[in-house]
Amino acid sequence: MSMRFLEMMLIMILPVLLIISSSSAELVDPPDDCNNSQSCGNMEIEYPFSTSEKCAMASKFFINCSTGEPILGNNLLVTNISIQNHEISIEGYVAKACYDQKGNKPFLRVPSYTISSSKNKFIVIGCDSYAYLLGRYQNDNNSYSIGCTTTCTGMERVSANGICSGIGCCQTDIPAGLQNTEIKAYTFYNHSRVKDFNNCTYAFVVEQGRFNFYQSFLENFTPERQPLVLEWAIDNDTCGGNATAYNLEGRSGYYCTCNHGYFGNPYLSNSCTDIDECKTSTAHSCSATEKCVNTQGGFKCERKDQLLVIKITVGVAAGLVASVICSSWLYLVFKKRKLIKLKEKFFRQNGGIILQQKLYQQQQYSNETAKIFSEQELIKATLNYDTSMIIGRGGFGTVYKGFFADKKIVAIKKSKNVDQCQIEQFINEVIVLSQINHRNVVKLLGCCLETQVPLLVYEFVPNGTLFEHIHDANKASNLHWKVRLGIAAETAGALSYLHSAASTPIIHRDVKPSNILLDNHTAKVSDFGASRLVPLDQIEVATMVQGTLGYLDPEYLYTNQLTDKSDVYSFGVVLVELLTGRKAVMFDKPEEERNLAQYFHYSLKEGRLFEVVESNINKEENKKQIKEVAELANRCLNLRGDDRPSMKEVAMELEGLRKTEKHPWVNEEVNMEEIEYLLAETSNANDGIITTSAYDSIGDHVTLEFSGR
Ligand SMILES: *[C@@H]1O[C@H](CO)[C@@H](O)[C@H](O)[C@H]1NC(C)=O
Ligand SMILES: *[C@@H]1O[C@H](CO)[C@@H](O)[C@H](O)[C@H]1NC(C)=O
Ligand SMILES: *[C@@H]1O[C@H](CO)[C@@H](O)[C@H](O)[C@H]1NC(C)=O
Ligand SMILES: *[C@@H]1O[C@H](CO)[C@@H](O)[C@H](O)[C@H]1NC(C)=O
Ligand SMILES: *[C@@H]1O[C@H](CO)[C@@H](O)[C@H](O)[C@H]1NC(C)=O
Ligand SMILES: *[C@@H]1O[C@H](CO)[C@@H](O)[C@H](O)[C@H]1NC(C)=O
Ligand SMILES: *[C@@H]1O[C@H](CO)[C@@H](O)[C@H](O)[C@H]1NC(C)=O
Ligand SMILES: *[C@@H]1O[C@H](CO)[C@@H](O)[C@H](O)[C@H]1NC(C)=O
Repeated sequence: MSMRFLEMMLIMILPVLLIISSSSAELVDPPDDCNNSQSCGNMEIEYPFSTSEKCAMASKFFINCSTGEPILGNNLLVTNISIQNHEISIEGYVAKACYDQKGNKPFLRVPSYTISSSKNKFIVIGCDSYAYLLGRYQNDNNSYSIGCTTTCTGMERVSANGICSGIGCCQTDIPAGLQNTEIKAYTFYNHSRVKDFNNCTYAFVVEQGRFNFYQSFLENFTPERQPLVLEWAIDNDTCGGNATAYNLEGRSGYYCTCNHGYFGNPYLSNSCTDIDECKTSTAHSCSATEKCVNTQGGFKCERKDQLLVIKITVGVAAGLVASVICSSWLYLVFKKRKLIKLKEKFFRQNGGIILQQKLYQQQQYSNETAKIFSEQELIKATLNYDTSMIIGRGGFGTVYKGFFADKKIVAIKKSKNVDQCQIEQFINEVIVLSQINHRNVVKLLGCCLETQVPLLVYEFVPNGTLFEHIHDANKASNLHWKVRLGIAAETAGALSYLHSAASTPIIHRDVKPSNILLDNHTAKVSDFGASRLVPLDQIEVATMVQGTLGYLDPEYLYTNQLTDKSDVYSFGVVLVELLTGRKAVMFDKPEEERNLAQYFHYSLKEGRLFEVVESNINKEENKKQIKEVAELANRCLNLRGDDRPSMKEVAMELEGLRKTEKHPWVNEEVNMEEIEYLLAETSNANDGIITTSAYDSIGDHVTLEFSGR
């Protein structure tokens, strides 16, 4: 009990130490009698701004409120001050040059403010007009200008209402960092040629989206002021506690921001305080089964039961503080013992004992068995599951790269929770898979059962998934037809082996390009998370329907009867993907192209095969083979499982094609055989392929459960 309390104490003390060490900057707070949050009109004025000169951080932050309206500098009306965005909105002047009077040339007399480049536009209205925006940069004595011209002889070509596109109204972007600006409006001929409909030139800076052009403005534009946004900055890089100073790029000013997870006014020394993320459900990412616990600058997610225990413990132990500190050394001893106990529990829970027994039995026949790794070994190999070691993520869990001391590289899969009643099956799979020694199946080296969810250790395959190679435009162009055919043949060979040659038949259940890994151009089938072992005397197993949308066998979907032909269907989709370079399901395509299997079937039926074949393999010398693979894929996609070829037939056919690729002189004979075979098979063509339309927003992995089973 006491050790739990100490754990809490440590958590609480640590951040305080960190804060003290990081808040060393010296900040001059406003005098004590200042109110750091005042109102003027209906606007809130916050420090560094103030309505009193002595309370503002600098004279440029003084807002004159003597008339009841916030006025900045020389009579500029302020409409909004944002401390978080270091911006201030004001009403700027409109410059005019008219037929009968001299144009005025208003200044934006706010030397220390910058016109926001991203939020404003410079606009000129008129038909005999040009105007400049002149300004300076900090630490640069030169003057710079931008401008815009618009002339027209009548109303015909003037921009339509709502559009300011050049004739009658022109607009231009404003460069970043411009200060001390001045607007000058001019006319070419005193509007004498256009005075029937336009007597004045108007020029002004306006906040983007706040100005809409109307043709009637040429005749009469009355507003004297327009809203615009200025940026402000402080001169020193000192900010309050829990806040950080940022430099304005290319300029000498700074602005402050509360650190991540803190909220307040970063210009005051004690204002940024921790945000309690747990109070709003959108601010934290803890799941429903976890309890959100607020921390300094963040939050953490704890398992609910654990939290309850901690709470009760803290309540009971509150009186024992003194004795706790004395016996702190006990904590370490206890903690270690507790950890060992926990590991033993998980090991038992995850079926470690059964596995050990089975492995022991097996070792007597062969030395090709799975190893049981300790948690410590795997933590070391993955640098404590560092995010830099993550090589894959998906519906199944996370895959890390790991380095063992003997320089061996492995892939470590951290699965999602394993259902307690499936433990025995999980153990079986580990044992069977570890025995499989096929060139085109990713080798399972072992597992670790000391953690809450079992970890699986596989051989590392360096070149990523087939999915990346097909759907990344760069990689796809290196995937020549020969290579594609090879990958198809190898994958088919591996699946055929799993279906028939392995000691207990295995149905993979989730065949898709992202589960086919590449070692150079050698295919390796992976991810047996969903696979089922089929007892030898059974050919069908009823299971919960599981698989990936777009690859799922429609027959299996309806009957729940899993057979090896379900893998054949999925493999058919993979073949089509290799041929077309398209994804199995594309939600952004028109209805008839959404499901690749269906789309391919109709394309083939209508004789448009070569329109859908990926362009970089669509070459004359490949056409014959592409046609044969396409027909084979089409047979794999038959709606009736019985009408599909077996994986063995598929593998043999692909291997045959691959051989002819290697020895082109045998082309003729093989093809005759093939054609006869095809003629016999394609007569029972398939119609009315169904499309499943469930969509899993987290990944492409879908699990459908049928009620009543
Ligand atoms: C500071 O100004 C705010 C807003 O005008 C007001 O509500 C508050 O009472 C003032 N505090 C002091 C100490 O004057
Ligand atoms: C504030 O504005 C008023 C009215 O324009 C002016 O009389 C006064 O001098 C200004 N105060 C300061 C401190 O500039
Ligand atoms: C002031 O500016 C902030 C930030 O740009 C914005 O969220 C707020 O709505 C503005 N207030 C008014 C009254 O325009
Ligand atoms: C700008 O002008 C001032 C005064 O004439 C001079 O001292 C300064 O060196 C000039 N700065 C630059 C960058 O030319
Ligand atoms: C424009 O008008 C001003 C004053 O009315 C006059 O001085 C100037 O010469 C005129 N310019 C042209 C080009 O007509
Ligand atoms: C422009 O000014 C002239 C002379 O003052 C006047 O006759 C004419 O009606 C004005 N045009 C418009 C569009 O206001
Ligand atoms: C900025 O720092 C200088 C030198 O440390 C100091 O004299 C000045 O008062 C500071 N300015 C502000 C606005 O804090
Ligand atoms: C930083 O935030 C913490 C938590 O809100 C607060 O207790 C502390 O006073 C802040 N530090 C400073 C210097 O404001």
